[in-house]
Amino acid sequence: MRAPWIAATLAAAGLAGLAAQDLVQRKRAIRRNFPVLGRARYAIERIGPELRQYIVASNNEERPFSRDQRSWIYASAKQENNYFGFGTDNDVEYTGGYPIIKQRTFARVAPPTRMDSHDAWLPSVKVLGGARGRRHAFRPDSVVNISGMSYGSLSANAVRAMNTGARLAGVLHDTGEGGLSAHHRHGGELIFQIGTGYFGCRDAAGKFDLARLKDLVASAPVRALEIKLSQGAKPGLGGMLPGVKVTPEIARIRGIEEGVDCASPSRHTAFGDVDSMLDFVELLAAETGLPVGIKTAVGHLTFFDELIEAQARGDRGIDFLTIDGGEGGTGAAPLIFADSVAFPFRVGFAKVWSRFAEAGLADDLIFIGSGKLGVPDNAIVAFALGADLINVGREAMLAVGCIQAQKCHTDHCPTGVATQNRWLAHGLDPHDKSIRVANYLGTLRRDLARVAEAVGVPHPALVSPDDVEIMDGASGSATVREVYGYRPGWNVPTPAAIAACEELLGPHR
Ligand SMILES: Cc1cc2nc3c(=O)[nH]c(=O)nc-3n(C[C@H](O)[C@H](O)[C@H](O)COP(=O)(O)O)c2cc1C
Ligand code: SF4
Repeated sequence: MRAPWIAATLAAAGLAGLAAQDLVQRKRAIRRNFPVLGRARYAIERIGPELRQYIVASNNEERPFSRDQRSWIYASAKQENNYFGFGTDNDVEYTGGYPIIKQRTFARVAPPTRMDSHDAWLPSVKVLGGARGRRHAFRPDSVVNISGMSYGSLSANAVRAMNTGARLAGVLHDTGEGGLSAHHRHGGELIFQIGTGYFGCRDAAGKFDLARLKDLVASAPVRALEIKLSQGAKPGLGGMLPGVKVTPEIARIRGIEEGVDCASPSRHTAFGDVDSMLDFVELLAAETGLPVGIKTAVGHLTFFDELIEAQARGDRGIDFLTIDGGEGGTGAAPLIFADSVAFPFRVGFAKVWSRFAEAGLADDLIFIGSGKLGVPDNAIVAFALGADLINVGREAMLAVGCIQAQKCHTDHCPTGVATQNRWLAHGLDPHDKSIRVANYLGTLRRDLARVAEAVGVPHPALVSPDDVEIMDGASGSATVREVYGYRPGWNVPTPAAIAACEELLGPHR
């Protein structure tokens, strides 16, 4: 009896020791939230490649992000070795729709990227608000920025990690439509998003309140305003925040009543068509001096045709257009909306960008893309299609520890990223994760700069639709220009544009 008792005591003491170690460490949210048990995840992850050879799926089968894509993001976020050995395991030869980036044999690219660097300085080629002469027009410091994800759908610690990471990496952090919280105030510069609920800038009746917007903008480093018309994962759909989730803090931030259900309508009440929307855009720009843009998914194209017609007159216009692909993420959406409403990024973006190009207006605004663009190959295709900047949403979540458990809608996120549960959220250490976000953003920029160098252009936004081809299985390929119906010369940099870009980048890279 004595020996088993001693063994049991020793085992319990050992487990207690492991649990204590897990609770005090700050690097791994899963271990902090699920002491001892959480270790299994890392053990399984370590032997995963060997196990998968025999029983489960390949490295490219998981969705929305494949295991290879997630591994690349995790390794980049930790500044670990993010190379892959032995050659590609993608089915390059037989997969239709596979993009191939074409390197140039001889090209003068100055300055070349540094091989030892973990980052690259890659500012926007265009000035945001420059074409319309906004008082606070500026050149974004980074071509990669953080997409709108509200405090409420993300935890306080996740928002704080992202905002601090945004400061460290010099990127813009979009607030999302849930208002501007204390967690957004850690030094990262902001794009304030105005959704249909006007959270943070609404009156008691839920209508847009300009005075509140101006006060809010003056209180934080807000560099631009984004009017959200729709989001790829749930276009044309309103939202409901149940009263139980309307904590005193959320009520204060959003300007709503504590404990009471809060609906965001599917459409704006401050404007009802393109004409009144452009009046609203000009009002915001005149009153705040900030560049103003819109974010939308792509469905019927009549909206864009009307927008282009109005913008061509020259007296009113948006400063940037964020196109969100139907494959984009959300905290929660009905399956039919996530799966089937709105075009995926490449098709939707190309339809819109080519309309602006046809009208000769593509140079007059900044095009921002989102929808799984936070991995280098997807980002390069976006640039080839005409994107000037890209936004990353879920990839930034992966960088702060998301394991793609896809439980964001349940409030049971095991890593503390997408939950308001205090115990789960406390596992996410905002300091440690802010460094990971910054590392990931920097590494993405560096890899984009390296691809640009291979293509023979000084900046990834200068990759043209002739530099990327889309494979048609094993039988052939066609350029992005041919596949998406771009005219010759569209989005192809002129020698003057290349020289200007080289001068802009100077010795910084
Ligand atoms: C948890 C979560 C919350 C989001 N909240 C917002 C939001 O408040 N406003 C918005 O415009 N988009 C929101 N989005 C969409 C993202 O900003 C982004 O457009 C989309 O996920 C595509 O980018 P990605 O593929 O890099 O994630 C949210 C996405 C996620 C995953
Ligand atoms: S619930 Fe899963 S997918 Fe959503 S943030 Fe958390 S770990 Fe990521």
